[in-house]
Amino acid sequence: MLRHSPTDTINFAGRSIFVKRDDKLHPDFSGNKARKFYHFLINDFKNVTRIVSSGSAQANSLYSLSVLAKMKGWQLDYYVSHISKYLKSQLQITPAIASNYTQAHANGANIIEVDWSSPKLSGCKHLDDAVSIFKPEYYKQYTQQEILFIPEGGRCDYANTGIYLLGEEIISWVKAQNITALSVFLPSGTGTTALFLQQYFKECQTELLDVQVLTCSTVGGDLYLQKQFSALNPDDSVHPTILNDGVKYHFGKLYLALFALWNEVLTTSGIEFDLLYDPIGLSVLKSHIEAGQCQNRQILYIHQGGLLGNATMQSRYHRKLMNKR
Ligand SMILES: Cc1ncc(COP(=O)(O)O)c(C=O)c1O
Repeated sequence: MLRHSPTDTINFAGRSIFVKRDDKLHPDFSGNKARKFYHFLINDFKNVTRIVSSGSAQANSLYSLSVLAKMKGWQLDYYVSHISKYLKSQLQITPAIASNYTQAHANGANIIEVDWSSPKLSGCKHLDDAVSIFKPEYYKQYTQQEILFIPEGGRCDYANTGIYLLGEEIISWVKAQNITALSVFLPSGTGTTALFLQQYFKECQTELLDVQVLTCSTVGGDLYLQKQFSALNPDDSVHPTILNDGVKYHFGKLYLALFALWNEVLTTSGIEFDLLYDPIGLSVLKSHIEAGQCQNRQILYIHQGGLLGNATMQSRYHRKLMNKR
């Protein structure tokens, strides 16, 4: 279950590259989150009745956790900083645009807007910190065995279980293809997936097998991503290589040039990538290839899912294009 995604070949930036189709793992539980939450799916947490997490109201972790909670019969409390009027209005109309928020709501998730003005949260800026402040309240009602706290975006050691399996799948595919030098590229948010993959490949490294992880930052810039890696593992010999295309992107902001690239890849390859992380990833990889890097290596791009958020992103892009006219 949730393993062995297929690998496609596409033409990109004037050469042939491979795409690992983790978006095809499962319709409800796909991509990055299928790998990161695999641990919770396959293990039996027999006393758990509630899970608590946090993130953006549009995040695919919200949707995936709502599916996980529904499958396991758990209640999900998901803390968000803010829910836009637009998203809230989607709950009033039928049919609503399917999004991570509307679908998670339909799955019974409690999506809770944090009240930052509460004295309890004074000086607190991050959602994960707010959740730590709420923890003692939860422990008055639940024992440690009954409740699971999952950090924002699945940034925790539990993510290792599924990401190592992804690493294993890639290594057996590499061997079957007789590939000796491979660059695996994936855009990073928290950097958890890229880091755990690089750790796995380092363990498999031999003189005849060279697999490296290349990534780029989509949130906060290269230095921020570097810090994220160090927080997960201080040993920088297992950190992935961070690339950029010279632009400092802001997460969730619209970039028409990136939308054009995303559309071009959709047309030429027939593959729909996500509209938050992948346009940045594709642009960075394109400039890396065009700079003549990776000439003697095969490239495998990991499609990390996240497609449910595309409908709202596409309508935002279309509104921006209309306003330009
Ligand atoms: C579609 C997609 N791509 C990339 C990422 C980034 O993954 P990570 O936070 O492990 O760097 C995420 C994470 O939420 C994602 O959902």
